[in-house]
Amino acid sequence: MSGLGSQIFFILKCLGATLCISALYSLCAAVTRRKDLPPGPKGAPFFGNGLQLPKLDQHLKMTEWARQYVRYIPAWMPGMDFKRSAAIARKAIRDMEEIPYRNVMQEMANGIVKPSMATRLIDRCLKDGVLNAQDQRDIEGTVGSLYAAGTDTTMAPLLVFMLMMSRHPDMLEKIQDEITRVVGQSRLPDFEDRASLPYLECVLREAYRWCPVAPIIPHQSMEDDVYRGYYIPNKAVILLNAWAMSRDPEVYPEPDVFKPERFLSQNGAVSDLHDPRKFVFGFGRRICPGRYFADATIWLAVASIAATMDMRQAVDSQGETITQISRFVSGIVMELEPFLCDIRPRSEKSLQLISGMGNTTEY
Ligand code: HEM
Repeated sequence: MSGLGSQIFFILKCLGATLCISALYSLCAAVTRRKDLPPGPKGAPFFGNGLQLPKLDQHLKMTEWARQYVRYIPAWMPGMDFKRSAAIARKAIRDMEEIPYRNVMQEMANGIVKPSMATRLIDRCLKDGVLNAQDQRDIEGTVGSLYAAGTDTTMAPLLVFMLMMSRHPDMLEKIQDEITRVVGQSRLPDFEDRASLPYLECVLREAYRWCPVAPIIPHQSMEDDVYRGYYIPNKAVILLNAWAMSRDPEVYPEPDVFKPERFLSQNGAVSDLHDPRKFVFGFGRRICPGRYFADATIWLAVASIAATMDMRQAVDSQGETITQISRFVSGIVMELEPFLCDIRPRSEKSLQLISGMGNTTEY
């Protein structure tokens, strides 16, 4: 198919095969009165627009039209399910932003609030005068988006760590020996110990690599560009494939195998050469701003878990190991589905250390 035929086919495809042509037509006819529609033959602007599709970069024009038109198509129409989902998602996002903010304000009023990013931002606005509606919206959005961006993402490598430690108790034992040697058993590992725990570092890096949290990272170009001979037009969507980077056998031999030693150099030090943190947190201007916070949080969690817990694969009532296939939740973030494993405190001393953790909430 070529020329106009392919253009109309393209239009229909974009609207979804289920969209009724006559309904679409009357809808478009109804909206011809609006000023912001692009020109087309009277009464049939949509098909008229089809005639105006440029030969090159048709997708850009289609996107522009979709932005203009789709808002006029009612959510009840076939093919518009995404509009209904968007309304549900919009409400969920607003709740996520507003409810914690309201709680913080309530706790501030009652004088029982703990300091946090939200309280600091609120305090700063109050110090400069009043907290107006725009300030409130900004604080809700800022704190809410960090919460959304940092929750599942931080959880994902932790789950990989738990899965792998339960499957490879030998690796966990190696980490525990390292911690006992460097930290002892009377306290939990802390950030000052990090550089002295190379094997733990390798395990964490392998958890990042084995399952990159965001396997595909979308960006958009802001101007025409040429990269290694490839022409990239302005506004092109570029999908950065972190998954492929994590599976490059030239960089990571046997990429599907969980092998922390791959990050150890010959002298036993951790090599930064192929550190997966160089790609799992994204790239350039949009690189994850929470990466240092996330990496520190995850390190502290895995170090504390390894210091105090033993993990094994779960067994059934007959004592047989329960073999499970690891599955991932479908979504933007690659997160493991729940899995069974057997977790126990290593000793009485570990139990004391764990219960002592709850007492360190001052900050
Ligand atoms: C293991 C944990 C995390 C991973 C793997 C991760 C990964 C990513 C990736 C791949 C992006 C997109 C970067 C790009 O477009 O090039 C991103 C964006 C972002 N991340 Fe993270 N992230 C993690 C934790 C966090 C945490 C804890 C926070 C905040 C507390 C956070 C806040 C954000 C924000 C605000 C953005 C959007 C930045 C922008 O669009 O300019 N992330 N993250």
